[in-house]
Amino acid sequence: MGIIMDRNQNFKWDRLSLGVCYYPEHWDRSLWQEDLRRMKECGIGTVRVAEFAWSIFEPEEGVFDFELFDAFLDLAQREEMKVIFGTPTATPPAWLTEKYPEVLNSRKDGVLLRHGMRRHYNYNSETYHRFSGRIVRRLAERYAKRPCIVGWQIDNELNCEVNEFYSESDTLAFREYLKEKYGTLENLNEAWGAVFWNQTYNDWNQVYVPRPTINDQVNPHQMLDYTRFVSESAIRFCRMQSDILREYRKEGDFITTNGMFGNLDNHKMKDTCLDVYTYDSYPNFAWCMGEDPGNCRTLNDRKWSRNLMEVRSICPHFGIMEQQSGANGWNGRMDAPAPKPGQMMLWAMQSIMHGADFISFFRWRTATKGTEMYWHGILDYDNCDNRKLAEVKRIQERILRIREITGADYAAPLGLLRDYDNIFDAQQDIWHGRIADSSEMEIFVASQLNHTPMDSVYLRENTEAGDLEGYQVLIYPHGEILTENACRVLEKYVRQGGTLIIGARTGQKDANGQCVMRRMPGLLSPLTQSAVREFTLVGPGDDAVTMNWNGKEVETGVFNDILETTGVEAKVLASYSGNYYKGSPALIETQLGAGRILHFGGTFTRSNVREFLSYTGVLEPFAGRISVPAECEIALRRKGDQEYFFVLNYSAKEQEISLLQEMADMDSGEKQKGTVTLAPYETKVYRLKDIQWEDMSER
Ligand code: GAL
Repeated sequence: MGIIMDRNQNFKWDRLSLGVCYYPEHWDRSLWQEDLRRMKECGIGTVRVAEFAWSIFEPEEGVFDFELFDAFLDLAQREEMKVIFGTPTATPPAWLTEKYPEVLNSRKDGVLLRHGMRRHYNYNSETYHRFSGRIVRRLAERYAKRPCIVGWQIDNELNCEVNEFYSESDTLAFREYLKEKYGTLENLNEAWGAVFWNQTYNDWNQVYVPRPTINDQVNPHQMLDYTRFVSESAIRFCRMQSDILREYRKEGDFITTNGMFGNLDNHKMKDTCLDVYTYDSYPNFAWCMGEDPGNCRTLNDRKWSRNLMEVRSICPHFGIMEQQSGANGWNGRMDAPAPKPGQMMLWAMQSIMHGADFISFFRWRTATKGTEMYWHGILDYDNCDNRKLAEVKRIQERILRIREITGADYAAPLGLLRDYDNIFDAQQDIWHGRIADSSEMEIFVASQLNHTPMDSVYLRENTEAGDLEGYQVLIYPHGEILTENACRVLEKYVRQGGTLIIGARTGQKDANGQCVMRRMPGLLSPLTQSAVREFTLVGPGDDAVTMNWNGKEVETGVFNDILETTGVEAKVLASYSGNYYKGSPALIETQLGAGRILHFGGTFTRSNVREFLSYTGVLEPFAGRISVPAECEIALRRKGDQEYFFVLNYSAKEQEISLLQEMADMDSGEKQKGTVTLAPYETKVYRLKDIQWEDMSER
């Protein structure tokens, strides 16, 4: 595993490689050596270990025992297996939670969440910080210099299982967080609109994390601050660990954690605590979550590309710490089918296509006991060679053939703009959430079905127009919370030639989540030269509303802002065709500098997004070079002047694609042009220039 630091000081793997999650503490030691040898035989060169093993290291308070992992790491070293070492703080030992119950998280009603699952601790207990810091330090002292160690994983899936915290420590820390943010209770009362329903505070001790209330409703501005606070708490906990690991780790070893979970600013966590971000990818999760079939049925496992796009925005060249390799299921929760033959390869290529340079499967062998005994690994309980192991071997052979793409950049002309304030606000504001969730999903579906690669692009405090200029078009669907800083950056992006599309309810709120007393799109209005005269949800009794755009009836979704122009540059592109606002502007375009803003009064649907992509010139950017059916996902990756096309067939049926220019199939090395048939779940990687086979090292 190599060390390259990119210009942002991110760690980058220098070649595509495979790993697996392994739990030496779950198995008889007599199995270890054979396990490692079998892993190596199919190309697995790294294992991740130890992330739940605290009691093995510290069986009693202050009593340490490293024998088991000493022995395992000795063996790993002999077998030339590299190791990613997990810090075990996701599962506190029973002695700890029993003696120090203040480390536990609690339900909103104050009932403590007890030992027996995982992630039942809270981030703000100073006791938990102390014990966690001590075990991390002891492990780092003992193992960091070991040659087999190549990286560290902090905790496991921060904010997974539960991402709300209601313990006493959380309330105390929340008060401190708010004191620092607001200084005085007057400011807090103002920001939280506490005058409404007599919520005014006159003592800090009256302020709590959300507690049970009538209807479980909580002050929305408090909720927004609380979510930000949860994120900050997780980051502080992660930072405590990464500071310790940094003191000990060998040069070149990376620090990561595996995500990606909610109520957490993953971008900030990556930038402040980690060298590289890793993701746990279970594409068949869509099944166990019973997600909206209307949205997902067309995409199923392909929907996971949306998460990978998010991960890429956190860290363009990331790792997969857990890649699904079996049926998913817990004893009492969730179930999903096993990958069909070919799907492990498909999903590995899905991860690689979106930017992963390291793929570690979850897990080597299915646990024979415990909550996750149906969360299957590569091997089943019988430990026999099987078709999944054979597929891992084929994945390894494949990545050797395509290894030169390592570190190539994903090319997307289109960006979906997001920011944490709006994400957090949409979680608790049902009006905001309903339109934000469906629009974002529909934009993703449209980009997939229309073969228009898209990036997720985050507006952060330090984002500058230069970070956005690579995108021809940015869609900021429903940026209800709009800040001066965001407007400044967006204005510059547009003036420099970008196209910005905004949708319904943009600019309705300030950073506290309070509605502003001006017409939408609020702070953007002077730039769009448009304003919202009136707005409405398209009610269940209403006919679907469309807008007439260039003679076509185009959907306007579930919420409609009724627009008007306010300046001479603004041009009405389309007007509503129905409801009581028939004939009123639905879409206004305004030139600004070298670019333009499209102010759309509706919400996004897969069909109207297609019209927007077409109008703004980003629809199917590779249409002249390659043509693929809707069942396939396509991506272009660039490295220097070299370009690579990925084509992934997610369907159980053969699919025909058409290469309109000559390309080299990186598996066969043959040049191809014209029609190519992809078998069910088959994936292709094409190189656009001639392959210099001789130049390629390590083949
Ligand atoms: C992941 C987690 C693993 C394992 C797996 C299956 O979310 O990191 O430890 O639990 O899911 O549930």
